[in-house]
Amino acid sequence: MISSQEIRRKFLLFFSEKGHHIVPSAPMVVKDDPTLMFTNAGMNQFKDLILGNAAIANPRVADTQKCLRVSGKHNDLEEVGHDTYHHTMFEMLGNWSFGDYFKEEAIAWAWELLTEEFGLDKDRLYVTVFEGDEEDGLEMDQDAYKEWEKLVPKERILMGNKKDNFWEMGDQGPCGPSSEIHIDLRSDEDRKKSSGADLVNQDHPLVVEIWNLVFMEFNRKADASLVRLPKKHVDTGMGFERLCMALQGVQSNYDTDIFKPLIAEIAKLSGTKYGANEQQDIAMRVIADHVRAIAFSISDGQLPSNNGAGYVIRRILRRASRYAFTFLNQKEPFIYKLIEVLDYQMGFFFDELRSQKDLIQKVIQEEEASFLRTLEQGLKRLDQYLSETKGKELSGDKVFELYDTFGFPTDLTELILRERGMEMNRAQYEQELKAQKDRSRSAAEMLTEDWMILLEDEKEEFVGFDYLETSVTVTRYRKVKTKKKELFQLAFNLTPFYPEGGGQVGDVGYIQCDDDKVRILDTKKENNLIVHITESLPMYPKREYKAVVDSSSRRRSANNHSATHLLHQALREVLGDHVEQRGSLVNPDHLRFDFSHFQKMTEEEIKKVEDFVNLRIRKNVPLQEHRSVPMSAAKDMGAMMLFGEKYGDTVRVIQFEDSLELCGGTHVPSTGQIGHFKIVSEGAIAAGIRRVEAITADKADAYFRDQEHLVQEVKELLKSQDPLKSIQQLRDENHRMQRQIESLLAEKAGGLKNELFDSAVNVNGIRLILAKIDLDPGSIKNLVFEWKKEHSDVVAVLGTVQNGKPNISLMISDSLVSERDWNAGKIIRELAQEIKGGGGGQPFFASAGGKEPGGIDRALEKAKDLFSAP
Ligand code: SER
Repeated sequence: MISSQEIRRKFLLFFSEKGHHIVPSAPMVVKDDPTLMFTNAGMNQFKDLILGNAAIANPRVADTQKCLRVSGKHNDLEEVGHDTYHHTMFEMLGNWSFGDYFKEEAIAWAWELLTEEFGLDKDRLYVTVFEGDEEDGLEMDQDAYKEWEKLVPKERILMGNKKDNFWEMGDQGPCGPSSEIHIDLRSDEDRKKSSGADLVNQDHPLVVEIWNLVFMEFNRKADASLVRLPKKHVDTGMGFERLCMALQGVQSNYDTDIFKPLIAEIAKLSGTKYGANEQQDIAMRVIADHVRAIAFSISDGQLPSNNGAGYVIRRILRRASRYAFTFLNQKEPFIYKLIEVLDYQMGFFFDELRSQKDLIQKVIQEEEASFLRTLEQGLKRLDQYLSETKGKELSGDKVFELYDTFGFPTDLTELILRERGMEMNRAQYEQELKAQKDRSRSAAEMLTEDWMILLEDEKEEFVGFDYLETSVTVTRYRKVKTKKKELFQLAFNLTPFYPEGGGQVGDVGYIQCDDDKVRILDTKKENNLIVHITESLPMYPKREYKAVVDSSSRRRSANNHSATHLLHQALREVLGDHVEQRGSLVNPDHLRFDFSHFQKMTEEEIKKVEDFVNLRIRKNVPLQEHRSVPMSAAKDMGAMMLFGEKYGDTVRVIQFEDSLELCGGTHVPSTGQIGHFKIVSEGAIAAGIRRVEAITADKADAYFRDQEHLVQEVKELLKSQDPLKSIQQLRDENHRMQRQIESLLAEKAGGLKNELFDSAVNVNGIRLILAKIDLDPGSIKNLVFEWKKEHSDVVAVLGTVQNGKPNISLMISDSLVSERDWNAGKIIRELAQEIKGGGGGQPFFASAGGKEPGGIDRALEKAKDLFSAP
């Protein structure tokens, strides 16, 4: 049997021999495209080449791309596990032509690879061709049909509609007609009974699409119209896992050597058997699938979190954890244990997985543990709701509350209800859910209009490393509307404005032409385009504007960015080489750096790191900026690079002596400008990830000035030049006085005890002590408990006002509690009404606090009536 590794290798080799440049998979987590969270198709990283926004360096490219289809237009999450051929994360094998070959070669090569190289049975293959679409004004794809006719008998060429045979990246973006290749994996006997042609695109688990050949010709605009692309391209995507299923002669992706070891490990760890029980099989498939998605997201730099892409990952992990909990009876973290096997399977090809294995395990384990705690609390709360519910229906609001506030999965609630012969009010639940969705949608809704092109421009060059001011012309603009405001995005022919990236915030500033000055509020990068965000449009769109970057913000950001590099180096030096950057933020005010490390940093380590950085600041190390270095040369230089970042063939290396990093940010000309570096906080943000926040330059000055000021004020307050000594003295004195007070109070209570006891009145055979005294509630409790111990016939009601707050204590001797059936806990609630408060306790002792000191006398009066009643 051919292994999955061999299949991947053969694919890449085949296209390499046909002149394709083999590139690594782009990160699965997308960082610079606001329309996409995760890579959902192999072509994502080439979107700009296809749209004609970037120069084509290699017209033929092939790769295997890690994809995740869990949100947006392409979303398979709910199917996963329930069927045997959908996945959250999967590998997409692809070959591309950018303005080079078109349908003829793409079709011929796909057929050659499948039938000759891989030897798939031609009788099992079907192909589809786009039938055209009236609404979009598109004809049937005659050219593709003609190519297929050369290779495949007519009855195996099927027509497909827009849904199946017109591939679009999203609501907007590149698109075109496609030809799919489907395979019929049913037994010969079944194939004789019915034709595979009738099962194509019918969700049959054994008649599945394996390869999609898209002929990119159009761009779908925001107004849904299609415009022709400047060039024609080929974009193909083949489902690696499905191809393996076909070539390994199995009938489920989960029976290929990609998933089998994971399934076997899950079965072993949970003491179950795959294939024995449908519900458990689904659970095992869900977990085997999801663990890959989670592990690869973490290795690409996306930790589970509460929003955005991080939240999607958290939800996938919780889905897996919930299946393990319910169907495999796993009540302890368990999924993290699968990472060993996954690494064994895929770590050699995807180095990012292998080198971050420890971190991935720790993060998953921690997430699982926290979710299991959530489940436990949710179960308790559900029990409580059920005990309060009469009838067989739990209200939908409660189910929603469990889900929304406590993160408790609704399908689990339903399952538990079913087990108890109950159900939930679905209509109510749906209503709550819809209300919540509407709320968040209207908050997040953003409408991006199409670009208005003023000037065709191949590339918007960034000149901001060398210039903070330059003349620019606006090349395109568009309007972006959110619920709250309306903004504009402008692109220029060239720009000095640094777009947000590599953790550094975007530049601000303005552009000006005569009397028209437009503020640049932020600068961002969208794919390869630098967009400048403004509140208004320039008045003279055809004229040249002077573009001016706010130099103070830029300088302070540069200080913090260069300091971040020095900090990174210092952390590796002081803590060890396991330290890897996991995220960073650099803005004019401060810097934030997240990194892998498993313990809290000690004071000593923090000091060492600060010293390391400050020493290099004082040495005034000059910046050595290496532009356009080939990637291999940068590696040879030993430059640090990050997992999950998309680097081009040539990179920029930022060097300060022996600190070398691949970086596109802006930096100081020499480190002296940073002035001083001060760490202001250190803490954990996730399992195995620490965060350091620090300040530099003017902010560091201000920090030390504040500290100095504080000491000065303390000295003045203490009227002492030696505040430490004075505070020590104050503490000693305080301690002494505390002890004195305690003994005085005890004395006072002792005196009071006798005095009050003597004042008791006899009613109905009990000794009733009622008094308003000046003693703290703690001492009152001690006092009444002494009576409780010594006498069997006392009821004591003592009120006091401490710091303006009324308090009442009630003690009833034990034998009275049982003889008369009195309950101090209940009675105190009645008394508490008089002081506008509440309280509670046990049958023999209770106390209450309140808001109205004047009510104590009334409460005592009430108590007297109560206990004197016959
Ligand atoms: N973009 C197409 C797909 O994702 C072919 O690569 O199916």
